[in-house]
Amino acid sequence: MYNSTYQQKINSRLGSYKIKDAGFAQRFGANISDIAEIFQYIYGKHPQAQVLFDTLLDQMCTAHLDRKAELKKRDAEKEKSGTWFLSNQLAGMSLYVDRFAGTLSGLRQKLDYFEDLGVNYLHLMPIFKSPEGESDGGYAVEDFRAIEEKLGTIHDLSDLQASMQEKGMYLMIDIVLNHTSHHHEWAKKAQAGDKEFQDYFYMFEDRRIPDEMEKDMPEIFPESSPGSFIYDERIDKWVMTVFHQYQWDLNYTNPKVFVEMLANIFYYANLGVDVLRIDAPAFIWKQIGTTCQNLPEAHKLLQMIKLCVEVATPGMALLGEAIVAPAQIMEYFGTGRFATHECDFAYNATHMAVQWDALATADTRVMLAAQSELAKKPLGASWITYTRCHDDIGLGYDDHMIEQSGYTPYLHRMYMKNHYGGVQEDSPASGALFAVNPKTQDARISGSLASLCGLEKALASKKKSAIETAIQKIILMQAHCMFLGGIPVLFYGDEMGYTNDYSYLQDPGKAYDNRWMHRPVIDWKKNKKADKVGTVENRVFSATQRLIRIRKSLDVVADLKNIDWMACHNRSVVGYERFIGEKRVYFIFNFSGQEQDLTWYAFERNGKRPSQLKDAWSGKSFAVGSDEEHLSCGPYEFFILS
Ligand code: GLC
Repeated sequence: MYNSTYQQKINSRLGSYKIKDAGFAQRFGANISDIAEIFQYIYGKHPQAQVLFDTLLDQMCTAHLDRKAELKKRDAEKEKSGTWFLSNQLAGMSLYVDRFAGTLSGLRQKLDYFEDLGVNYLHLMPIFKSPEGESDGGYAVEDFRAIEEKLGTIHDLSDLQASMQEKGMYLMIDIVLNHTSHHHEWAKKAQAGDKEFQDYFYMFEDRRIPDEMEKDMPEIFPESSPGSFIYDERIDKWVMTVFHQYQWDLNYTNPKVFVEMLANIFYYANLGVDVLRIDAPAFIWKQIGTTCQNLPEAHKLLQMIKLCVEVATPGMALLGEAIVAPAQIMEYFGTGRFATHECDFAYNATHMAVQWDALATADTRVMLAAQSELAKKPLGASWITYTRCHDDIGLGYDDHMIEQSGYTPYLHRMYMKNHYGGVQEDSPASGALFAVNPKTQDARISGSLASLCGLEKALASKKKSAIETAIQKIILMQAHCMFLGGIPVLFYGDEMGYTNDYSYLQDPGKAYDNRWMHRPVIDWKKNKKADKVGTVENRVFSATQRLIRIRKSLDVVADLKNIDWMACHNRSVVGYERFIGEKRVYFIFNFSGQEQDLTWYAFERNGKRPSQLKDAWSGKSFAVGSDEEHLSCGPYEFFILS
């Protein structure tokens, strides 16, 4: 809504900063009232609220001025193309720069590899300075502006970004919003007794408040980092550390923290970041008597970030890494008048987990039960779809989804943990339980895509049929998430069938965290095997490559709220239809190791069914028959039928 006081604030800044860009002025005018309203709501009572609000407005102007012409041009192109990131032309990969290519400039040399695979969107796992041994894979940031030395320099990042942009590729990096390393300058000042910086964190004189809060705060790493506070003897205080004890939670009740972190966000935007992954946004607001997750203020802060980014660096989309219950994930897309003005993306963690559920049980009912919740995603926002990432697999889907399928939630999750977590000896999967909580029996699962699909044990057994089955499962899992809607982001190594890497056990900085078993160091000699027809690497790589190619050839796969789930009348088979207008493509997946029948009736809509279908995967054609006839689906087979 128009507000003359705010308009004057804009006008005076446009003058003093000599900004002539009409688009910027327009976006500023459109968003300032909302930004002010949220700022006032969160920080209104803070003594420095006014001054810091003005600083925030100044930051938006400087961020705009610092934005290079090429990036502004790219912003304009993105704006023109509609919501650019909903396109079926995007396919991503998430990787550790050091483990994949050594350095940022090494990674630049590998851009051809991605082009060959079809990947045009890279998520670089945290690349900013982080203390060796207390790093959490880079998620304990010591300096938000300095690249980790072993990876290179900020210029190397710029060069990489420029080369990627030239090739039409997109860049995603993280902003670790919730916490800093205890070696960050702010933490060091706080440790030295500086009160101003102690207020950047949550610190308490004694255990009274921590004890009270810990009653409701779930532990994130109960084995390696129990509790949510640590005692720091240098300052004789209890410091909040929700994740590892070396990751100190930032205090967002202090507006200075917000304004400083927003400046870092703009800094990243102006490095040419296309999608900013906001790490752990569910945790950024804490309140005694709550779980300290998903609180309304956390959403308000994210909305404020979005509104500011829309003004100053509009081409950068936001991904909220909220790995939370299905209903709560939806809230990260924004609610009410902020719908699609919060995070542009969320991880489809629910779907990822139910894919693993279906693979373990050969029963897709839990997956189907999850869909009505997932369908609530608003048009204009999107998912990151994935089978594996650098983190563990959490079984955080709702109990009612399991109950609807006729299972008991506790026993069902136990089955899953036993199947994948290295407990059940005759399971084909080799994984491990992660973050086992002895108090609640909760646990998550670590393991690479290939190992969880059985390749590790199959290779050890040298049994051809077991290897074949594992490869089929890997491809099925990747295919299932490739066409679902959203940007598929592969985890590096999975395109080559890397099995678990147990060398992390030899490194004391990693041994306490078994997520490292699925974060491989790429062996380029092994990758070379992809050139030799018939090798495992070749089978997996070429299948992944083909899946991406097919994705890019099907416009129905763009994420436009254009998915219908089919009634397959067979628990092991699941199908979804993607459509635009009259054009429909049917994606059918058999999650069981047995041959299954799918009645042709499943293809009927409004009394009509197609007469002929062609499978883009196998090249086979099928004449659609009567209700009593069926499409026969081989073990772990899938179809892309149009
Ligand atoms: C996110 C990251 C995870 C990290 C945590 C703490 O969940 O994905 O790897 O441990 O945040 O920063």
